[in-house]
Amino acid sequence: MSTVIWFLTGNEGKLTEATHHLSPLGFEVRQLLLPEGAIVEPQLDSLEDVAIAKLEQAKQYLPEGETHVMVEDAGLFVDPLDGFPGVYSSYAYKTIGFQGLLRLLDHLQSEDPVQAASLRSASFQAVAALWDGSNITLGKGSCPGSISTTSNGEEGFGFDPVFIPRDIDDLGQPLPPGTYGVTSTHGATFGAVSLEIKQKFSHRRRALDHLVTQLTGDSQDL
Ligand code: IMP
Repeated sequence: MSTVIWFLTGNEGKLTEATHHLSPLGFEVRQLLLPEGAIVEPQLDSLEDVAIAKLEQAKQYLPEGETHVMVEDAGLFVDPLDGFPGVYSSYAYKTIGFQGLLRLLDHLQSEDPVQAASLRSASFQAVAALWDGSNITLGKGSCPGSISTTSNGEEGFGFDPVFIPRDIDDLGQPLPPGTYGVTSTHGATFGAVSLEIKQKFSHRRRALDHLVTQLTGDSQDL
């Protein structure tokens, strides 16, 4: 009989992605859907701390006899803003939105796209945290890139229309700004590419890969 992992999320897309990664390992992923307000979103300094605090709360909602529960948290970290909005990404998106983020970076411009990418560097980061009944395992994933000067595309969600990922090489490693890799959005933002392409760069996918690596003991680069 397979072990059930209860995944605390309201997002069907995240559920599908987690199922894709964890079912080959013999886990059955089920959605732990709680009423609005059941989990308090803690104001802490790192995604890891937020994920652990949410995991602690989620444990009490596990169905009788169940042991495994998982949460996942992500955010956009903008280097020239010292990592803002980071753990506050969801709030920043609801308040200033990506247009507000563009205004905050208005003074950082360059005609040279490579220099612009360095001046406006940022990364999406994600943490997946799993409680197995006795221990917490953390998987971390990052997608480095930069903030565009104007928004572009209607795909995705959140800050996708202003985030340009760095190209990645054949091993899935991000390359320095200005270097072409086997996987590239050719300067387009996540908002202007399909979900299938975004998945190749995804911080969330990398966090799950990292988690899986620890569960199986396989070595895998982040
Ligand atoms: P969550 O923890 O996955 O809900 O992410 C928190 C917030 O970070 C979201 O509300 C978005 O504003 C932002 N964010 C996280 N991941 C992404 C992404 O892949 N694309 C765009 N925005 C994201």
